[in-house]
Amino acid sequence: MLWVVRLSGFCSAAMIMVVLSPSLQSFPPAEAIRSSHYLGISNGGYDHHIAAVSGVADGSRFRRAPIFHNAAECEPPSANGTCVCDPSLVHIAITLDEEYLRGSIAAVHSVLTHARCPESVFFHLLLSEPGLEPVVRSSLPGLRLKAYYFDPDRVRGLISTSVRQALEQPLNYARNYLAEILERCVSRVIYLDSDLVVVDDIGKLWRTGLGSRPVGAPEYCHANFTKYFTARFWSDQRLAATFAGRRPCYFNTGVMVLDLVRWRRSGYTRRIERWMKVQKSGAATGSAGRIYELGSLPPFLLVFAGHVAPIDHRWNQHGLGGDNVRGSCRDLHRGPVSLLHWSGSGKPWVRLDSNRPCPLDHLWAPYDLYEPAVA
Ligand SMILES: *[C@@H]1O[C@H](CO)[C@@H](O)[C@H](O)[C@H]1NC(C)=O
Ligand SMILES: *[C@@H]1O[C@H](CO)[C@@H](O)[C@H](O)[C@H]1NC(C)=O
Repeated sequence: MLWVVRLSGFCSAAMIMVVLSPSLQSFPPAEAIRSSHYLGISNGGYDHHIAAVSGVADGSRFRRAPIFHNAAECEPPSANGTCVCDPSLVHIAITLDEEYLRGSIAAVHSVLTHARCPESVFFHLLLSEPGLEPVVRSSLPGLRLKAYYFDPDRVRGLISTSVRQALEQPLNYARNYLAEILERCVSRVIYLDSDLVVVDDIGKLWRTGLGSRPVGAPEYCHANFTKYFTARFWSDQRLAATFAGRRPCYFNTGVMVLDLVRWRRSGYTRRIERWMKVQKSGAATGSAGRIYELGSLPPFLLVFAGHVAPIDHRWNQHGLGGDNVRGSCRDLHRGPVSLLHWSGSGKPWVRLDSNRPCPLDHLWAPYDLYEPAVA
């Protein structure tokens, strides 16, 4: 028994090290200033940053959620539960930045609310600003998590301009690197966007079989696949041949189950990066050279479309954000719902704050932990 105790002790110590280390690194002032909104500092600069982080430890801008406990039939949480390598854990990766912090916290909150075994869910938080981790810890007590700093420079040189500026955020590309960032002992992970809520037991999605496929996601084969790539792409035989012998369907990269063992073995990260380089060099010759218009999605389609394990559509009722037209509200797709996803440019927290919510935005609100400062 002793070695088990020592092992878990080691894991906890390792966790604390990892958790602390991002705040020990130096961060560019611009990123610290961007944090100032949620951290409640008016003239935030880098020097104020650490002070702001400790000031937020009392959860002043986010309500504290209750602690969630496992149902009776769950495996009792082991001493290993705090160790990322515990094989009984459900792993979820989500990004965290100042702009979507409120959405990310609501997403995590929703997962815990509906999970049969919330104490067995482990969150991998990919963040671009260290000050955000204490906010999550204080608003979601007892959360099993590990925070990772995602260096924007890792992808900055690979990103070309897209139709929507929000799509160019380096953190959008963090999902490409999960197989490299997460511990080797993590063999499967669910990736979730920050603009969604889960309204069902995440354990069901976790247990979905992927067969021999590296990625699982709901597929939309009725969508017009052609439009995700430019005329230049389709007219270049060598490029268009990428999809030869495949039956490619659109899938949304905001909800994916990834087999990290297969991913690492086949080097999918490098394959995605190779497409980003093709796009980047094409875009350098003018807009006619691009092979696609969107951001992080098309490289995923290029590598995986037609090779995806189809997951039930209930796990990604997407598009609820609507489009750029003000006041455009989307309805649910037909069928049962386990996950609501506000993909598109409209976000529920923005519409709720401006008192112009879409009807479905009221389904997001119960998971919101944000508390505006009392004026
Ligand atoms: C803890 O983890 C180790 C290695 O993953 C495993 O062999 C052991 O049975 C676990 N202990 C408990 C109490 O779950
Ligand atoms: C699919 O999209 C392409 C490019 O936007 C368009 O040219 C084509 O007509 C569309 N096909 C169908 C069946 O709608």
